[in-house]
Amino acid sequence: MTAKADPAPNPHASAEQVEAAWQDPKLANVLYHDWEASTYDEKWSISYDERCITYAVDRFRLAAGDVGPYEHALELGSGTGFFLLNLMQGGVASKGSVTDLSPGMVQAALRNAEHLGLDVDGRVADAERIPYEDNTFDLVVGHAVLHHIPDVSAAMREVLRVLKPGGRFVFAGEPTTIGDFYARKLGQATWWLTTNVTKAVPVLNSWRRPQEELDESSRAAALEAVVDIHTFDPDELERTAVRAGAVRVRAVTEELSAALFGWPVRTFEAAVPREKLGFGWAMFAYRTWQRLSWLDEQVLSKVVPRNLFYNVLIAGTKPV
Ligand SMILES: C[S@@+](CC[C@H](N)C(=O)[O-])C[C@H]1O[C@@H](n2cnc3c(N)ncnc32)[C@H](O)[C@@H]1O
Repeated sequence: MTAKADPAPNPHASAEQVEAAWQDPKLANVLYHDWEASTYDEKWSISYDERCITYAVDRFRLAAGDVGPYEHALELGSGTGFFLLNLMQGGVASKGSVTDLSPGMVQAALRNAEHLGLDVDGRVADAERIPYEDNTFDLVVGHAVLHHIPDVSAAMREVLRVLKPGGRFVFAGEPTTIGDFYARKLGQATWWLTTNVTKAVPVLNSWRRPQEELDESSRAAALEAVVDIHTFDPDELERTAVRAGAVRVRAVTEELSAALFGWPVRTFEAAVPREKLGFGWAMFAYRTWQRLSWLDEQVLSKVVPRNLFYNVLIAGTKPV
């Protein structure tokens, strides 16, 4: 259960609230993610099985260089719990606390944790003001959250405050500045091409999503422009963590060819009716992404500058 003081989810924001959210990235995050919470796992193909456990643990190992085990872990911007719950299932932490600005997401994460039988509690919380005592956690994690937080330096200082001395933090899934640029361009081109071709070519009309779903996707994409605040240069992200007081700080990057393949694929999937793409397509997309990720890690990361990759991950330690 969420703490009594936590606000309730608001999945159906009023027009006035949406209007106000354009000037307020935190309100936009709450409305956008409350609205997304019930369909989020499906939209992003999130599961709590071997596939996502391996993905989460591999990201952790790549960033931190180890996989624990740690005792009590906190997740910031947990969403439905994808990162921490899968890390816990992979043995990285034994007890978890999920937090998110969106009440709907905290509820979804707690529901998922309960189904999985994991020892997890949760709070609605802003990463810039974490509602826990100093020196509480052995580990703080986050996935795809830093780029939504207006004051990343303040959040980093909070992470170091709530960590025990010697505790670790690991953030993964953040967009690099260059990666975000090419991903967006590829996404926009794929969206334009798919929606226009399926509209213009009669034999492909059945591949066009119903207009109201396309409108909804466009509105969501518009709010995305408000909630996606930052992209990161890996060197600068390391400096931010060091300035906040962290030691043994290291950023790594991943996904170059995998991102060049993955973003058009994900956009295409969003632009056509779900039933058109069956299990065969899903396996093709996943296996190809896996092979390209291997190429990126084993070959391209050794010869291509790190800031050209799409994702940046960062780990560090609170001094003893
Ligand atoms: C892109 S989602 C990622 C969710 C999850 N970590 C995952 O990887 O599936 C970003 C999450 O960060 C949350 N968020 C945004 N700003 C936040 C803030 N200032 N403090 C805490 N959470 C925040 C959002 O509500 C959302 O659930």
